[in-house]
Amino acid sequence: MTSTSARPPDVGSSRAAAVWAALEPILSDGPLRVLDVGGGTGGFAVPLAQRGHTVTVVDPSPDALALLARRAQAAGVAGAVTGVQGDGDRLAEVVAAQSADLVLCHHVLEFVDEPVTAAAALATCVRAGGWVSLLVANQAAAVLARAVGGRTEEALALLHGQPDGTRHRRFDIDELHDLVVHAGLSVEQWHGVRVVADLLPAAEVAAEQSAAVRQLEAVLAQRSPYRDLASDVHLLCRR
Ligand SMILES: C[S@@+](CC[C@H](N)C(=O)[O-])C[C@H]1O[C@@H](n2cnc3c(N)ncnc32)[C@H](O)[C@@H]1O
Repeated sequence: MTSTSARPPDVGSSRAAAVWAALEPILSDGPLRVLDVGGGTGGFAVPLAQRGHTVTVVDPSPDALALLARRAQAAGVAGAVTGVQGDGDRLAEVVAAQSADLVLCHHVLEFVDEPVTAAAALATCVRAGGWVSLLVANQAAAVLARAVGGRTEEALALLHGQPDGTRHRRFDIDELHDLVVHAGLSVEQWHGVRVVADLLPAAEVAAEQSAAVRQLEAVLAQRSPYRDLASDVHLLCRR
């Protein structure tokens, strides 16, 4: 087991890297009880456990939980990672109220039955003064992507919140803020994730890895209007 001051592990994608960077000050604040709702196969849970935190992953997928257990075992942190089969809409059935210092909910509100219910459940699970990390797909980016691809009808439908044939809900930033506040959380900071990376022409995708693009992303992520158009929106909220 490594200490909480260890460097974050290599988390692969620039999306994950941006979220890790935002979480870093919280993670450095001692061993935490982390609840990862919809944590899947442990892309966050296992590295968090390697840093000394204890992590409970709630996910409805038995396959994901089985892979999570194997990954935790292989990483030598099986004792610090608990997988629980459950649903983000009904967290109270499997998680005690106020039992987490930090709740992660990354790319899950897009899939739950009822985001308002799920957000309230997240808020219930975190202790007073604790943190909730929310990552969701940004509606504005999806609308623009369709518009520049010539799919204007789809762009308009998405803008008006109509289903686009996927199970994938997107979020208007103002409505997301309202949702969080309604759940009893305050938004302490928010940023855009992948402001320009997904706009790069295919031939230049490798450029995403360049230091210059990463530096530009880091700056734009913090600033409106650029962050308002990012592919994903990351909110750090406090109860
Ligand atoms: C796109 S993956 C995200 C996984 C992980 N949070 C991450 O950021 O890499 C969506 C995850 O949400 C889970 N999921 C789907 N519906 C859910 C629900 N109603 N409650 C909780 N998790 C759900 C899926 O099983 C899957 O593991």
